[in-house]
Amino acid sequence: MKAEIGIILGSGLGDLADEYCDEAVDYDKIPGFLASTVAGHKGRLVFAEISGKKVVMMQGRSHFYEGRKMSDITYPIRHLKSLGVKTLILTNAAGAVNESFHPSDLMIITDHINFMGTNPLIGKHEFGERFPDMSKIYNLTDLAQDCANEAGIDVQTGVYMAFSGPSYETPAEIRMARTLGADAVGMSTVPEAIVASACGMSVLGISCIANAAAGVSSQKLSHEEVIETTARAKQKFKKLVLEIISAL
Ligand code: HPA
Repeated sequence: MKAEIGIILGSGLGDLADEYCDEAVDYDKIPGFLASTVAGHKGRLVFAEISGKKVVMMQGRSHFYEGRKMSDITYPIRHLKSLGVKTLILTNAAGAVNESFHPSDLMIITDHINFMGTNPLIGKHEFGERFPDMSKIYNLTDLAQDCANEAGIDVQTGVYMAFSGPSYETPAEIRMARTLGADAVGMSTVPEAIVASACGMSVLGISCIANAAAGVSSQKLSHEEVIETTARAKQKFKKLVLEIISAL
């Protein structure tokens, strides 16, 4: 199956692929795909036609903190490229570093900070340039903002900083993240964005703010809270993504 738009659905955000599904293939049937071991992540590649566009959705992703190699967690991007994907929408659940953000807000990613301690392009040179320019990696932010306005959805915009996880950050790390210019922190998305951009895709990132990051509120952080809060944002998340698909 071919597709022009790829979407990676993050923690608790997989519903879109249940609602729009013409054909689905389990990751364990696709050589090179690894299913996530994390609650809230299914492991299916779902094909659908939405607003007349051929869309492929990854319902669940695998993460660096699961002990996988960068080349393994970004293999699906290479696969999507071979299916014809030109635009990739990356979604995730994230913790808010910016104190004006609230749980269940959506944040359009304007830029990122790779703090995972490695880079998914390390190794054999496969495609594009050896030293790809990352200065305009998230090149669909204006389109996403226009779509949010059109759909009447309030969105935040900001910088996503990726840590390896799986422990949540300490309050000192979150103060550091803020000093470095981050608005939200998470444990995914950046490796996929780097590989997608390097292989010539347009990239859009949307974070669902699941919690105030460590030290921002006194609440204990938990994956259950992340799943609960993203569930509250599901409807507007879906509406925004559908508006974006139709505008692409
Ligand atoms: N930190 C890192 N990753 C996350 C968080 C967080 O606070 N919330 C959801 N994913």
